[in-house]
Amino acid sequence: MNFKGENILSSDQFSRRDLDRLFSVTSEMLPFADKKERSNLLEDKILATLFFEPSTRTRFSFETAMLRLGGRVISNHTMEATSCITKGETLYDTGKVMSTFADIIVMRHPESGSVEKLALGATIPVINGGDGASDHPTQGLLDLYTIQKNVKNSDSFTIVIVGDLKNSRVAHAQCRLLKNYRDVKFVFVSLKALKMPSEIVSELKEKGFSVTETEDFLGALPVCDVLSVTRVQKERFSSEEEYKKFKGTYVLTPELLKKLKSDAIVISPLPRVDEIHQDCDKDSRCKYFEQVKHGVALRMALLALVLGLK
Ligand code: NCD
Repeated sequence: MNFKGENILSSDQFSRRDLDRLFSVTSEMLPFADKKERSNLLEDKILATLFFEPSTRTRFSFETAMLRLGGRVISNHTMEATSCITKGETLYDTGKVMSTFADIIVMRHPESGSVEKLALGATIPVINGGDGASDHPTQGLLDLYTIQKNVKNSDSFTIVIVGDLKNSRVAHAQCRLLKNYRDVKFVFVSLKALKMPSEIVSELKEKGFSVTETEDFLGALPVCDVLSVTRVQKERFSSEEEYKKFKGTYVLTPELLKKLKSDAIVISPLPRVDEIHQDCDKDSRCKYFEQVKHGVALRMALLALVLGLK
């Protein structure tokens, strides 16, 4: 992929070469994300963030990335209630119109495939900030960057992904991106009703990856190099009662952390509800707040590459 001028809609569109290039620019961006150095690389560029679903990290980290590189931001985080979509405007038309105002768009929406619909109308690059339960490429990318930085051999490791694997777009993005690595072993821990979609499992198996599906969290802990924790995705359930059936099944506690290897890492896209006990935060193997900083640097790199300034 060229990056320049391209839409970033799916985690499937990245090759190993693309990932290596993106991660190398991400490392260059770390001092700016860390507020240690200043840059005007994206001066005069405008980012539009169109959010139809709640967000803390994704929207603010894109906006921070843009602002810290000297760019500007126009933003609506209540699109579902306050944009012309409420009057019946199509995503296609919204994409066309927003292209007049901005140089690049980041969009989040509860429906799978919705970001692509907007991108069809847009004449500027569109980045998927999460579309329904389907995909969340930039979160998957920053997770992988964190793995690369912390795992000894990032071509050969075991990742245990635990939680709501059916609905977690982050878990899906991680699997799609990790297909680019050589010897990754996948262990999926979930209740039967919340299993990883079968298309993702079959694709990994077809490509020769080892995949284990289990309900046994305790048994999976000692083998893992990366523990990826996902929240039960409340907003994807039909009712509160339905959600409550699954909430609280898998909870990482300091007691359970003792079962992990000394050089294993724990990642989570956050937000957490109850799946990672706050007392785990003191353990240096827990990288979820470090991930937030990587998120800004990675989004700086992506904006710069897509806008053709890197
Ligand atoms: C994730 C998301 O929105 O899918 N959050 C994020 O972007 N950091 C994960 C989640 O909401 O559980």
